[in-house]
Amino acid sequence: MEKYVVYGGNRLKGQVAVSGAKNSALAIIVAAALADEECLLKNVPSEVDVYTIAEILRDLGVKVEFHGNTMRVDGSCIRSYQAPYELVRKMRASFYTAGLLLARLGKAEVPLPGGCSLGSRPVDFHIKGFQALGADIHIEHGLMKAEATRLTGTKIYINRSSVGTTINLMIASSLAQGTTILENAAKEPEIVDLASFLNSMGAKIKGAGTNVIKIEGVKRLRGTEYSIIPDRIEAGTLMIAAAITGGDVVITDMVPEHVRSAVLNLQEAGVQIEESLSEIRVYAPERPRAVDVETAPYPGFPTDLQQPFVSLMSIAQGTSIIRENIFDRFRYVDELRRMGADIKVEHGTAIVRGVPKLTGAPVETTDLRAGAALVLASLAAEGVTEITGIEHIDRGYEALDKKLNSLGANIKRVQAD
Ligand code: EPU
Repeated sequence: MEKYVVYGGNRLKGQVAVSGAKNSALAIIVAAALADEECLLKNVPSEVDVYTIAEILRDLGVKVEFHGNTMRVDGSCIRSYQAPYELVRKMRASFYTAGLLLARLGKAEVPLPGGCSLGSRPVDFHIKGFQALGADIHIEHGLMKAEATRLTGTKIYINRSSVGTTINLMIASSLAQGTTILENAAKEPEIVDLASFLNSMGAKIKGAGTNVIKIEGVKRLRGTEYSIIPDRIEAGTLMIAAAITGGDVVITDMVPEHVRSAVLNLQEAGVQIEESLSEIRVYAPERPRAVDVETAPYPGFPTDLQQPFVSLMSIAQGTSIIRENIFDRFRYVDELRRMGADIKVEHGTAIVRGVPKLTGAPVETTDLRAGAALVLASLAAEGVTEITGIEHIDRGYEALDKKLNSLGANIKRVQAD
């Protein structure tokens, strides 16, 4: 186990590039195994969740090679319909293998992901969707056992905007017989990326990015070469890192459109932002102004940036109200309080009274985005912060410590006691 030792107080300055999107990569890597030929994926982030999904696919018989940020996925030899519990339980996105296995083998046995540090996270919408596509489903001993000779397209209304359900049903239905229409589909850029990838394999998908997606099933999908979009959550995290240190940072290799809500809220907080086609310059005042924010599905303010934004608001002038509408995601606030933040959480809402300074303290993270929030808080804090649990940060940020250090931060990764 390792930890970060962060010496706070440095103003970030310079230029930093954004990596490929984790949540796109996880969907696209699984979808690549729909083809019976090799797919070449580029801009794949080197992160633990990506290694885990690759390991799960290998266990199913798929050939996966990963060098640098390039991954080769060859689904021609997929043979097992049983996803391994020990790997699946590590990550909810591994449930995408259910859609893949149903489409490729007509049979899937995938452990139910269960709860996680973000609270109860059911997969009932995914299961209802598979049933609507004609799969026969039994839940036994914590496993979802699904069977369908060939899935059949139909109209599916998804009860609540759900990224994972939309992805899983796109994967499952791309090889189905007939046309599937997903209503109330999620509109996140990762969904559009998956649709573009599948279409490059020969799928027939229209409407991704709107709330109605039409998938005309095809008999087979072919190998392709594809580059994954930049990670909008990493981009947003780096923007907030610049803002919390009163910094001046240019963030490159990103899509400004994908972080529109973060940009608007940062501007409201008094941060100056200059945009070009694939870059954003963040020029921040010494202390931001308090801003009220509410998380929502895309294009609303992302739940994955809620925690970093609360860190920023903890040193703002004034009081901000941050409402979390997607997950139960405020446990890290106790750790921020140990650093001197003044935050009260009531009914899914954080009331953040800005303080002039945070102070370093030993803190622990139990999830990815909370980890990012603590790193950002430690950059702004006076003195030294030790962050344990950083294996959660490694799950979904590529070299966050190195990138921040290249901007003038002082983060050391050391062995934890
Ligand atoms: N939901 C259900 N039943 C379902 C599916 C979802 O009730 O069958 C609920 C969830 O509990 C939640 C809401 O619907 O309240 C939306 O969940 P969604 O399905 O959109 O989330 P997800 O697919 O599990 C993805 C990302 C998350 C991100 C959310 C929201 C991946 C691998 N994960 O999760 O990313 O927060 O969408 O945008 O794409 C992260 O990267 O740190 C992360 C947690």
